[in-house]
Amino acid sequence: MSDRARRNRAAQQRARRVRRAVAVGVSVVVVLVVVMIALSLRGGGSGDDVSGPALSDLAQRGEEMAVRYGCVGCHGRSGEGGADRAGPAWAGLYGSDVELADGSTVVADREYLIESIVDPRAKQVAGFTQKMPVEAIPEAEVRAIVQYIVELGASAGTPSSGG
Ligand code: HEC
Repeated sequence: MSDRARRNRAAQQRARRVRRAVAVGVSVVVVLVVVMIALSLRGGGSGDDVSGPALSDLAQRGEEMAVRYGCVGCHGRSGEGGADRAGPAWAGLYGSDVELADGSTVVADREYLIESIVDPRAKQVAGFTQKMPVEAIPEAEVRAIVQYIVELGASAGTPSSGG
């Protein structure tokens, strides 16, 4: 083989190596891009719950009613409870045991929540000095607020019986 032919072959081999390296690099990038797209699709595919749990329509109405009737002034804008224990938190309330001022304990089911809203004097939660005002709230709106409290509870990991 002549010197020229040897040089030619060497150059061809170099070129082949470079092409192979480029091909490997490109396929690594392609795989990475595909993985990233798949991950971002999965993250975004679970709904727009970036700002907290999604509420049902009824619960959203309940949230509006809680604002309209001023409940949030004592129970917190997101049901987190009022400052200086103005009112107990709603988040995580549903299904939990509530200690009453008379020493007894009740389970915060829907019935208890409804009663707490339409007849706040019936059962006093222990540890609160403020008195919750008695307001005449239409039943449909009470139900909406109760649904809102129920869904706040479910989001806090409290077992929910649904319904
Ligand atoms: C002036 C402050 C205040 C306002 C306004 C208020 N609450 Fe209350 N709420 C309280 C206090 C204090 C308690 C705990 C003492 C008691 O049982 O009455 C309470 C208790 C409750 C409970 C029972 C909570 C538990 O932990 O068992 C529910 C449910 C409730 N409120 C719903 C409402 C709704 C709905 C509204 C609006 C229509 C409202 N509250 C407005 C102060 C308030």
